[in-house]
Amino acid sequence: MRFSEVYGAVAVAASAFSVANGLDILISNDDGFGTANIRELYKAVKAYGHNVYLVASVTNQSGQGGTAIYAQDRNLVSDGEFGIVKKGAPSIGMDPMDSHIWYYNGTPSTCVQVALDYILPRYTNLTTFDLMLSGPNYGLNLGPFLYTLAGTLGAIYTAVERGIPAIGISGGYSVQTPYYEVNTTTAAGLKDPATIMAELSANLAQQLITNAQKKGLSRLLPLGYGLNVNIPLISSFTDSSCIDPPFIQTRLTGSAVVDRAAYNETTGLFSYASLVTDGVNTCINGNCSLPGETAILNAGCQSAVSVFTVDYDAPIGGSCSVGPNVRSLLEPLVQYANSTSLVGGLNGTAMGTNGTVTATPSPSAFPVSSPGLRVGASAGLLGLGLVMAGLMC
Ligand SMILES: *[C@@H]1O[C@H](CO)[C@@H](O)[C@H](O)[C@H]1NC(C)=O
Ligand SMILES: *[C@@H]1O[C@H](CO)[C@@H](O)[C@H](O)[C@H]1NC(C)=O
Ligand SMILES: *[C@@H]1O[C@H](CO)[C@@H](O)[C@H](O)[C@H]1NC(C)=O
Ligand SMILES: *[C@@H]1O[C@H](CO)[C@@H](O)[C@H](O)[C@H]1NC(C)=O
Ligand SMILES: *[C@@H]1O[C@H](CO)[C@@H](O)[C@H](O)[C@H]1NC(C)=O
Ligand SMILES: *[C@@H]1O[C@H](CO)[C@@H](O)[C@H](O)[C@H]1NC(C)=O
Ligand SMILES: *[C@@H]1O[C@H](CO)[C@@H](O)[C@H](O)[C@H]1NC(C)=O
Ligand SMILES: *[C@@H]1O[C@H](CO)[C@@H](O)[C@H](O)[C@H]1NC(C)=O
Repeated sequence: MRFSEVYGAVAVAASAFSVANGLDILISNDDGFGTANIRELYKAVKAYGHNVYLVASVTNQSGQGGTAIYAQDRNLVSDGEFGIVKKGAPSIGMDPMDSHIWYYNGTPSTCVQVALDYILPRYTNLTTFDLMLSGPNYGLNLGPFLYTLAGTLGAIYTAVERGIPAIGISGGYSVQTPYYEVNTTTAAGLKDPATIMAELSANLAQQLITNAQKKGLSRLLPLGYGLNVNIPLISSFTDSSCIDPPFIQTRLTGSAVVDRAAYNETTGLFSYASLVTDGVNTCINGNCSLPGETAILNAGCQSAVSVFTVDYDAPIGGSCSVGPNVRSLLEPLVQYANSTSLVGGLNGTAMGTNGTVTATPSPSAFPVSSPGLRVGASAGLLGLGLVMAGLMC
């Protein structure tokens, strides 16, 4: 049943909604279409009676963020993850046992695009999906830095940007295993963590669906909105200490980390280390009194649910009504689009009158000492400007 048909109209139509008929839901991830987590999610969401399609990469695409890289070869040049799909097979394919399960040899963002622009029109009767789920990822994706880095979230914001409500799900357990190694019970006599995470995720999606139905909404989330969900390490391989974590309302910023480049003097190579910075933890939009998702996951057996939008714009001031007055730092060179006489960006300053650069500094012209001082000084001035602009408002 088409979600929009049911939800778009009046309450009477909404009450005619039947979960058994189900919504049209797309599932993807960045760990690969054959991993245990995505297959358990597929099963759990289908169990609610939804019409589910799984379209995900044939290989591990962890850490690709929103990168859009399509297959460069018509056929696979090496075996896919876990050897499920062999070298030489087409770069896109359907599971011979299930027409709703597809792989594609591309990044998570391209898997969503291929699902919407190729599989959906050619192999389904649908016009769009009502909801998209990604994950559960092997490993947490907490805070703005991981939001941009994670392929799990790259798939999600690709969908949100295409107008589809989407939920990214990540879990503390990080060992990627194939779907056919999921057992009914673990050694501790509990469900596999993949199964528990899938049931938690499906239950959260169902909460959203039920509420949207009750409210008679035409969409599960407002246009441009998505959710970032993180589930703690499910302990069911060994014990029952964390098998039913509560969902906590959170925000992306707050105790969040960014990567820093850690230099190894012996190898001459960099690797990443974590750093908590003010920059990544500044609350600009949303509800600033909510706890950060990083803090909630650090605190123990709790899941975090953050709401994001793909509108990355910020309040810029100008009328001094909202936020710091960033406008005042850009005027007059940066002009409003409706200005009557726009002045060129060079405004007669940087180049010769015929538009030719008068002097091109060679690399050796850059000072070899104290570049940090220069940068530090200008950064300091900018900081002062921001503070002053803030005071002016
Ligand atoms: C998938 O890629 C990530 C990042 O490169 C890596 O940490 C992980 O071990 C890989 N998983 C498998 C099963 O190879
Ligand atoms: C599309 O709809 C037709 C007619 O209802 C049905 O026979 C067919 O199985 C559907 N195809 C898919 C892929 O759902
Ligand atoms: C499932 O059970 C088999 C046999 O006991 C075991 O070898 C395997 O590791 C188990 N898989 C998982 C994911 O626990
Ligand atoms: C630097 O790399 C070497 C060689 O891999 C390793 O033994 C050493 O522990 C590393 N040092 C640090 C500080 O990580
Ligand atoms: C903001 O979050 C707090 C919980 O931290 C909640 O009590 C409050 O109602 C929220 N405010 C708004 C405007 O949503
Ligand atoms: C262009 O340069 C003139 C002279 O320096 C200055 O008065 C004017 O504000 C500048 N206009 C813009 C739009 O930058
Ligand atoms: C020009 O655009 C700005 C910013 O969008 C707006 O505040 C202002 O009212 C507009 N002025 C006119 C004359 O339309
Ligand atoms: C541009 O102006 C400079 C300095 O006046 C002059 O040397 C140069 O030949 C001019 N270039 C062109 C393409 O006219």
